[in-house]
Amino acid sequence: MKRRPLLAGNWKMHATVLDACHLAADIAKTCAGLEDRDVVLAPPFTVLSQVAHMVAETGIFIAAQNVCWEAEGAFTGEISPLMVLDAGGGAAIVGHSERRQIFHEDNALINKRVRGALAFGLIPILCVGETLEERESGQTFKVVEEQVRAGLAGVETADMKETILAYEPVWAIGTGKTASTGQAQEVHAFIRNLVADIYEKDIADQVRILYGGSVKPDNIDVLMAQEDIDGALVGGAALNAESFGRIIHFQEI
Ligand code: PGA
Repeated sequence: MKRRPLLAGNWKMHATVLDACHLAADIAKTCAGLEDRDVVLAPPFTVLSQVAHMVAETGIFIAAQNVCWEAEGAFTGEISPLMVLDAGGGAAIVGHSERRQIFHEDNALINKRVRGALAFGLIPILCVGETLEERESGQTFKVVEEQVRAGLAGVETADMKETILAYEPVWAIGTGKTASTGQAQEVHAFIRNLVADIYEKDIADQVRILYGGSVKPDNIDVLMAQEDIDGALVGGAALNAESFGRIIHFQEI
């Protein structure tokens, strides 16, 4: 089954207002006339609303890089789903490995974020992936299964249709090491089967599973040719309009 490709750029903690405006404008140009795929930009919170405003008429979607589960309150340092919506965002990355590794967010917290996003109508992009140590000790599938099951706990079938998953092996993020297409496809197929097991096959066939981890112009085509890879979550290469443009315009092989 063919799913609509989705190419997402995660800007992480990069871009001042001026940088963001230039980058968004250049990316918007490369997306002109594209109708058969979705493009998502996840800028830092400080420029979310400017970037959303700039791409408003282009069909590009805006995602936050994380999101809290409450509408408002005493949650210093957090951003609520309502604030993301208000700034022009429609999605939120949740459970990124940098949140898990550096800020010690665990599966239970990530699940609250996923459900919080959905409760307010934001699409969660739930990231999962094993560390190098976990891969080398043969725990990849166990870790990924735990992260998927716990991350999606309590998510209703209807909401699962909207939810996006991203497989990002931690050892491939920002390291220049991409998982081989075989390694990536194997885990993507595993995740899809897991979704079929938790929900139903129909949902699993529809859910988009992105690959992330050193996606570049020179590996996007072969990654996108894999049956269960429906898109990419791109960090470093998304900070340059030319390289992200090439990724957006991946070629079918
Ligand atoms: P990278 O980051 O493309 O720089 O490896 C991917 C990600 O963290 O989403």
